[in-house]
Amino acid sequence: MRGMHISPDDPLLMKIVDDLAEHGWSQQDVFLPEALTRELALECRKRAAEGDLAPAAVGRGPAQEVREGIRGDHIQWLEAGQAEPCDRYLEVMDQLRLALNRGLFLGLEDFESHFAFYPPGAFYRRHVDRFRDDDKRMVSAVIYLNDPSWQPEDGGQLRMFLKDGNELDVQPTGGSLVLFLSGDMPHEVLPARRDRLSLTGWFRRRGNEPFEL
Ligand code: OGA
Ligand code: MN
Repeated sequence: MRGMHISPDDPLLMKIVDDLAEHGWSQQDVFLPEALTRELALECRKRAAEGDLAPAAVGRGPAQEVREGIRGDHIQWLEAGQAEPCDRYLEVMDQLRLALNRGLFLGLEDFESHFAFYPPGAFYRRHVDRFRDDDKRMVSAVIYLNDPSWQPEDGGQLRMFLKDGNELDVQPTGGSLVLFLSGDMPHEVLPARRDRLSLTGWFRRRGNEPFEL
């Protein structure tokens, strides 16, 4: 991707939209520029070192609780205007939001995202990203911030359970992107042997009415 001046008709974004329409998911080995990926990884590590990341909870509202037997990552929600690399990431994701709206008429209105840091051995058991009582999350997008030396033996794969009964394991390689329909794709994060860094986000629409792609 060529830096900051990406637009919704960038061929890479259009490819992602096509993949999503056709299969319900898309994986791109090369999505974020290397330099930006590196800066985001540094930002994530800095926040982890400063104690800004908190153990992720499962569930929603008053039922939220930390359960390391389900998910063991540490997260911090992003806010615009805090760090320059994060703002560039948010800008890229906003262009992707516009491309998704243009190609799929999803009516996506906003994007929420957090850094996620999985220490060695941490995992996230099989789940779906959409809450039972809140169907605003339409599309999940994960970008990995691991360094290029990540090997399959390091673990940390994202395992997606596809409609046809197949499983697909994605390596969490730095700068790569995985995108899928939030309500439709059970998935899990396998334990890793190294720190595993990512930015995970959700494109959301406003309504609560049932929706079919
Ligand atoms: C999540 C999640 C996948 C990944 O945070 O909900 O499933 O590969 N993350 O980090
Ligand atoms: Mn998930």
